[in-house]
Amino acid sequence: MSEKRIIPKHVAIIMDGNGRWAKQRGKERYEGHLMGVESVRAVTRAAVRNGVEWLTLYAFSTENWGRPQAEVDAIMELFCRAVINEGEELAKQGVRVLIMGERTRFSQSVLEMIERIESVTASGDKLTMVLAFNYSSRREIVLAARSLAERVASGELKAEDITEESFAQSLMTSNIPDPDFIIRTSGECRLSNFLLWQASYSEFYFPEVLWPDFTEEEFDKAMEEFARRERRYGLV
Ligand code: FPP
Repeated sequence: MSEKRIIPKHVAIIMDGNGRWAKQRGKERYEGHLMGVESVRAVTRAAVRNGVEWLTLYAFSTENWGRPQAEVDAIMELFCRAVINEGEELAKQGVRVLIMGERTRFSQSVLEMIERIESVTASGDKLTMVLAFNYSSRREIVLAARSLAERVASGELKAEDITEESFAQSLMTSNIPDPDFIIRTSGECRLSNFLLWQASYSEFYFPEVLWPDFTEEEFDKAMEEFARRERRYGLV
């Protein structure tokens, strides 16, 4: 006997608390990020198992460039290592990886890894993992407004043709459905410049657990929480 549960099609996660996790254990912040990669692995498996189709992870915000250079370098290094170590396994699981964000400020080796992970996993058809990497939602909205303004100035588009749909098509998420469920770990209840436009009708969940402690079981708990929510989209 199987009971049909409502599964969010798109789950987006603000992976927060790596630094606090490390501090609580007297370790360097880097160790928290290292354990954070384990959680990425666990959550990816759990998302595939639950039948989630889209998983967006906030891996590096535009503001994160302001962290100490050693920490920025460590996160970039972890990303490159994850691409090398996990690419094949992700492809085997049917996971397609897309990197969302501005491809500026990255070193040549990080740019190469971005291209590598996208091409190695291009045929994944179970889950699309969107890694927000050098992403900021306000910047994304400004860039969309700018590109629409340029199209109006060139006569390609009329101002009255700027609609919610055409605006959404100009965002970095043009081919990605809006997130149904946004999770932020570590008990912080903020969006921090993440998917501001796309979150209009999302459900939110703020578990206390720090990101390195976010296991497959925690993801399953989140799915149970989502199934309990009733969504009305402004209707009664
Ligand atoms: C937030 O914790 C975490 C980040 C800014 C980085 C997330 C990075 C990873 C999980 C590793 C990179 C992996 C990939 C696959 C790109 P925080 O440092 O803000 O924690 P705190 O609020 O406790 O200080």
